[in-house]
Amino acid sequence: MSLRTEAESPARPVASTAQGTLFHGDATVFLRALPERSVRLVVTSPWFTGPCEPSSQDPTSPAFGDWLDHYLAEMERVLLPDGSVVLETGGAWARDRPVRTVQHYAALSRLLERGDWYLLQEFYWYNPGLLEVNEEYEERRFNRLHDCVTTWFWLSRSPDAPADTRRVRGFQNHLTHPFGNFLALSDSWADQPYLEAAGERRSRADLDRFPVAAPLYFIRLLTEEGEHVVDPFAGIGSTALAAEKAGRRWSCNDISAAAISIAKQRIDTFRK
Ligand SMILES: C[S@@+](CC[C@H](N)C(=O)[O-])C[C@H]1O[C@@H](n2cnc3c(N)ncnc32)[C@H](O)[C@@H]1O
Repeated sequence: MSLRTEAESPARPVASTAQGTLFHGDATVFLRALPERSVRLVVTSPWFTGPCEPSSQDPTSPAFGDWLDHYLAEMERVLLPDGSVVLETGGAWARDRPVRTVQHYAALSRLLERGDWYLLQEFYWYNPGLLEVNEEYEERRFNRLHDCVTTWFWLSRSPDAPADTRRVRGFQNHLTHPFGNFLALSDSWADQPYLEAAGERRSRADLDRFPVAAPLYFIRLLTEEGEHVVDPFAGIGSTALAAEKAGRRWSCNDISAAAISIAKQRIDTFRK
């Protein structure tokens, strides 16, 4: 399986502020261009199944673990030795039957067995605006419920990665409740006024995103002002906006021209 989608062409800078730069390109190429040991936090939501589309016969999809391992190795190079990676991921519906696949748990368990990363904590995000990929079962056949929780895995090479929970007490969002590791951080549609201002139309293609509140929560928990935050699969740029708000440096990237054009508009609007 090829891990490189757009060959070796460098990730192209498309917008920047005093704190960060937005790139358009492949995540591998983007990460390779960042200096070693320069990043405090990678917070990102990679493609949930990778290019593997697990089936009912292949619900743990080892190919997904290979795909994720590749990116974790690139992240490890740029991270400070006690830096953190926070991955939002979840199960998926098998492509052939109304059953679930657990490639994310399989990949995590394989990683932890190897002993070079620690799982510092997992978080559960209640996101009623989650992907509508199960509409076949939920809305037409009425035999499965809406899938509305995803997991965020906080990983580090160090069991002592710095964090300060006091910084997320009373988190600044009226929909957020301080329920420990259960996050009610508002849903995928919470930034809708922003997106409408940017001229975006609601469509299936733009559903797999997180609101600014999600990366902001982890940026506050795991970084100090001025530290460097990275999102290699940044979609429409919520991590960039969260880092701007929090006063952190940032580098964000996505391969999709459509997503990057929305991210660029959001960053430009934010700066005004
Ligand atoms: C789950 S979405 C992330 C959405 C993002 N968190 C947001 O709020 O918009 C996964 C993203 O990974 C991007 N992607 C997939 N393969 C990629 C690659 N090889 N390099 C960079 N981005 C990639 C997709 O374009 C998509 O925007």
